[in-house]
Amino acid sequence: MSVLVNDEWKIIQKGFSKERNRFFESLMSSGNGRMGLRGNHEEDYSGDTLKGTYIAGVYYPDKTKVGWWKVGYPEYFAKVLNAVDFIGIRVIIDGETVDLAKCNFHSYMRELDMKESVLRRSFVLVGRDGASYEISSERFISYSDPDLALIRYSVRSVSKDAKVTFIPFLNGDVYNEDANYGEKFWEYVSSRSSDETACVTMRTKKTEFTVSSAFAWKLSGSLESMRAITDRNGEWVGIEINSSIKKNEEITLEKYVSVVSDRYYERNELETLATSKAVQAKESGYEALFQAHKCKWADIWSMGDIVIDGDVPAQQGIRFNIYHLNCTYSGDDPRLNIGPKGFTGEKYGGSTYWDTEAYCLYFFLGTRTSEIAKNLLVYRYNHLEKAKENAAKLGVKGALYPMVTMNGEECHNEWEITFEEIHRNAAITYAIKAYSDYTQDLSYLVTKGIDVLVETSRFWVSRATYNPRKDVYMILGVTGPNEYENNVNNNWYTNRMCKWNLEYTCECLSMMKDRYPEEYKKAVDRLSLTEEDIETFKEVSSKIYLPEDREKGLFYQQDGFMDKELKPVSELTEEDLPLYKKWSWDRILRSCYIKQADVLQGLWFLNDYYDLKVKTVNFEFYEPMTVHESSLSPCIHSILAAEIGKRDKAYELYLRTARLDLDDYNKDTDQGLHITSMAGTWMSIVYGFGGMRIRDGKLNLAPFKPKAWKSYSFNIVFRDRFIKIIVGEEETSILLQKGESISIVVYGQQVELKTAEEFKLRQN
Ligand code: BGC
Repeated sequence: MSVLVNDEWKIIQKGFSKERNRFFESLMSSGNGRMGLRGNHEEDYSGDTLKGTYIAGVYYPDKTKVGWWKVGYPEYFAKVLNAVDFIGIRVIIDGETVDLAKCNFHSYMRELDMKESVLRRSFVLVGRDGASYEISSERFISYSDPDLALIRYSVRSVSKDAKVTFIPFLNGDVYNEDANYGEKFWEYVSSRSSDETACVTMRTKKTEFTVSSAFAWKLSGSLESMRAITDRNGEWVGIEINSSIKKNEEITLEKYVSVVSDRYYERNELETLATSKAVQAKESGYEALFQAHKCKWADIWSMGDIVIDGDVPAQQGIRFNIYHLNCTYSGDDPRLNIGPKGFTGEKYGGSTYWDTEAYCLYFFLGTRTSEIAKNLLVYRYNHLEKAKENAAKLGVKGALYPMVTMNGEECHNEWEITFEEIHRNAAITYAIKAYSDYTQDLSYLVTKGIDVLVETSRFWVSRATYNPRKDVYMILGVTGPNEYENNVNNNWYTNRMCKWNLEYTCECLSMMKDRYPEEYKKAVDRLSLTEEDIETFKEVSSKIYLPEDREKGLFYQQDGFMDKELKPVSELTEEDLPLYKKWSWDRILRSCYIKQADVLQGLWFLNDYYDLKVKTVNFEFYEPMTVHESSLSPCIHSILAAEIGKRDKAYELYLRTARLDLDDYNKDTDQGLHITSMAGTWMSIVYGFGGMRIRDGKLNLAPFKPKAWKSYSFNIVFRDRFIKIIVGEEETSILLQKGESISIVVYGQQVELKTAEEFKLRQN
């Protein structure tokens, strides 16, 4: 039996069960933005496991596999690759190889300390002759040097003297479980090993990413002999280290691993570089590198922690989310992005979905420096040419960003999503506004963002269909965010966001003309922008058709939605749910059931355009029909519920997102974690319970406290300031911890925040 223990800072697994191994491996994943690992065992494990070592941006274009090819389908689906296994340490004690699928053991514990980002394991091994050994391991992926990972592995002999052999190794002979044609994605380049270091270099097929991994080692204990060993035609290299321990003695092996790729370094220097980095790491020593790593994490937590008093599972849940977002994206490389599974599993392939702009950006804006968030925008700017090619491929002008991508090319291949879920363009442009409003840094907008705005606008006007009978523009044949309806006409969300996108483009162009004439002129030349273009943007935005009942303030999800049989989810039985597993696709499509926020997603983005009444009408209409079968769904509902005063509902929906993986809500945590929806969890607290908004250039807050908590506090980074918000029983305190005085709005009231001064207000 294995159980997950509630703890404020740690994810603790007590006891081991083979059946739940994958689940815990996912939970115990960690990373540093450049690489990441599932919580696999270092020593051999022949039981069920999903081996996972992932290197950011290193992917394989796996040839598309579909039943019926459609023109416009991408040739490949980019797979996140399981890369060289560098944590491996074979352990042999008195001739018995340690393998928890075969050996006798007890007192198993696996523990991820999120504060320091370190994974620890321990268990007591009982040898064939009944002798006991206490085994423990510790490892971290350095946040201070993104190319390093360090492991410490100890064996203490409890009952007798024993021979211990460690074989730290690197294994490049690895596979993905998710491979369309069962292919191996890597090919061998070179390897070498000596008594001191080993190195293996592998290259991906087709994409030719070259990755070298090396290690150096240190043993504290008596060393008897050692020898370099090679296997699997050189793809596996290790060093056999033989030693012996006396009864009650402990021996520790330290493995200093480096992983470098030609994404950052010269290809022909990788092997030498990897080896020298590993040797240097050994010279710096485990403790010094661990200290540097811990300092980085201390910074991250000081900026972005959320403290919940009086609810340990909730506390653990939110920290788990904050932790994994930072493991996935460190923001120093605009070529990287945030995959829905991050470095925790293979599912979902590609690294970038609209999730980044619709959810993740807000988290990084609020908890890290603006440069980090900006890199997410630069990523899209750098893919603009590919987005134009993508639109052209579909016979449309302008730019259509891909639904799923690694390098800007679309790699998703379900026609109803690839060709029809075009709303993604609007989330990408909305992110430009969100960034610019939050930071007041317009440098991206006026030099790069404007190109994205103009080209997406060109897409919208080209994709819209003019209906002369009604003198309106319609958007036909789309899939909205609710993927439980396909090929519908006039999805309100898509049409509304298209309108907004066009208006915002025009607004930005006119602002630039006034305030940034030089940049404006450059943009006009670069984009060959004409007055006619602008007029068309205005014409289409003013005449875009919106299926709405203006009197009631109810927005119809799409033209045919009201013709459906409208029944709440509460009328479904347990046997029906989850729909995607129990119902035929046809039945789902005909039903009124909604996978995730759709109209409500629009009311969240365009929050300031609609009053509470409209939000309430639509929430009360749509939420009861929503099955939340996307992990991205509950958070948006939670924020809106909080805004319209449905606080208990907000909390109920928050709980669905906060511990989604820890409590295995969707029964799929074994495949990896839901990284992008973790940002939604953070948003549920900060935007939902905390009521944060940016209005008229100012930070607005209106926090309330969920009944179940005694108090909570969150930190936000806002325009070079660190602001702490503490929400108590009746009072809210706001402290400007760092940065210059600033005027903000709390509960609708203007407040001057002075540096290091605490401001207290009674809650509404
Ligand atoms: C959701 C999409 C999302 C994708 C990746 C799907 O289930 O419907 O909106 O982009 O997951 O998270």
